[in-house]
Amino acid sequence: MDSTSIGVFDSGVGGLTVLKAIREALPAHDIIYYADTAHLPYGDRAPDEIVRFATGISQYLMERGAAIVAVACNTSSALALQALRQRLSVPFVGMIDCGASAVARASASGRIGVMATVNTVRSRAYTEAIAGRRPGAVVVQQACPELVPLVERGELDGARVRRALREYLGPLMEAEVDSILYGCTHYPFLHTAVREEVGLGVALVDPAREVAREVAREVTRAVDEAEVAPSAGKGAPGRCGGAGAVEFVCSGDPAQFRAIAAELLGWDIPEVEPAEPV
Ligand code: DGL
Repeated sequence: MDSTSIGVFDSGVGGLTVLKAIREALPAHDIIYYADTAHLPYGDRAPDEIVRFATGISQYLMERGAAIVAVACNTSSALALQALRQRLSVPFVGMIDCGASAVARASASGRIGVMATVNTVRSRAYTEAIAGRRPGAVVVQQACPELVPLVERGELDGARVRRALREYLGPLMEAEVDSILYGCTHYPFLHTAVREEVGLGVALVDPAREVAREVAREVTRAVDEAEVAPSAGKGAPGRCGGAGAVEFVCSGDPAQFRAIAAELLGWDIPEVEPAEPV
């Protein structure tokens, strides 16, 4: 692995939706993906724990050569992004600004639903970020605590999934939203079932592509800076590159993560490296 990779992390398999988008946007760049399954789910953990995990994982990724980190977890982005930017020297790309921009653009009526974890809902990060981009928007948040464990088990449809989705989507449909943001990176894996539940009249918005574009912009920005100041060395995102290798690291059970990740991505994942939980 080149020493100038893109680091990506999440509590588990959710961030794979972002990894896939980054890979499509930057196919020749090396990526290292960290799944913190030892601490999953993040959704209702104490905020200071989320900050601690995000800091430790980002440091680990930097030690492994990450020159830029994509926080592929809405909960960590909502609760820890500011601390990460203050404490650590690499550029960070988070979910909230990208998701808020994408859904503000997608909504015609300004009535916007946000599906997210309990922590993300409590933080009101999306409510504020959307209001900043779309003054007067009505943002209806819905916590969906049952969905992450279902996705982690690879259960993407069936009676349990439909029951949970009906419970969570009901209030959003009653509020007559015209667009729903996937405010947790696990949820896009349930897209087919969600689409069937809400019908075709509601826009379903996944921030992943916007995040990938922001990562690409960050890489370009650093390349431009490196041209002005050629001394920018190892660890600068402009030096991101490599052969397009993707490495996977997991703080929980690597075999379990590998099996579910391979199924969700449809990729052949050769090996997942175990990491000591931070
Ligand atoms: N996928 C994460 C998010 O976007 C975290 C889910 C969890 O661990 O509860 O918020």
